[in-house]
Amino acid sequence: MKHRRPLVGGNWKMNTSRLSSATLARAVVDGLVGLKGVDVAVFPPFPYLLSVGAILRERGSSIRLGAQDACDQPDGALTGEVSCAMLKDCGVSVVLVGHSERRHALEENETVVHNKARAALAAGLDVVLCVGERIEEREAGRTDMVNEEQVRLALREVPGEQIARLAVAYEPVWAIGTGRTATPADAQDAHAKIRAVLADLYGQDEADRVRIIYGGSMKAANAAAILAQPDVDGGLVGGASLSAGEFVPIVRAAAG
Ligand code: 13P
Repeated sequence: MKHRRPLVGGNWKMNTSRLSSATLARAVVDGLVGLKGVDVAVFPPFPYLLSVGAILRERGSSIRLGAQDACDQPDGALTGEVSCAMLKDCGVSVVLVGHSERRHALEENETVVHNKARAALAAGLDVVLCVGERIEEREAGRTDMVNEEQVRLALREVPGEQIARLAVAYEPVWAIGTGRTATPADAQDAHAKIRAVLADLYGQDEADRVRIIYGGSMKAANAAAILAQPDVDGGLVGGASLSAGEFVPIVRAAAG
């Protein structure tokens, strides 16, 4: 029996408009009314955080407002950046750090990911730290090594008392937006290895409390089998989170 409360995030990436983000938020809220036993967060684009947050609030929803990124600096001359304090000011309580699209398409290196993870946790935000291997790393048998390195480098100097606010998203890069998913067994294997790294860093009890969620072409049709794995504690959903008709059943599958 899993003792971790599942967590499902909808990462809207650079999608939706002012109007469609509001429509989607309302549909997700309405689709999840009364559902218990699962934490849910949505991650709209920055310009829609306030309007989506207002919809969540006015409907009394427990869905949490998340941001897709945060700057590691508190303020200053950093054109285009958004600080953790600004995000909190807009009602954000959880932030993605190290998403593969930022690591690879936008060339964020391990130092940047590390600085962002530390800054967000220190600011009191919850963090979903995203890790995962590229196809060439998987084919070279380096999956576990890559995940371990990404976890260790991101969490360097992060104190144990902040780990209660951490979740890890295992998102194999080759599964993101491709329609390919890790098999439930492969996901379980990667998650268990990531948990072992967390146990080495923070002790088994702390590691057992950290939610490790899966991302990569998760859909209503494949979610249940992946979510049934003992070390899979939820999902981080991209494409399928843009449709309430897909996202709501995934959340329901996670709630069990
Ligand atoms: P897809 O669900 O579109 O594959 O995206 C996964 C993801 O990157 C979530 O952060």
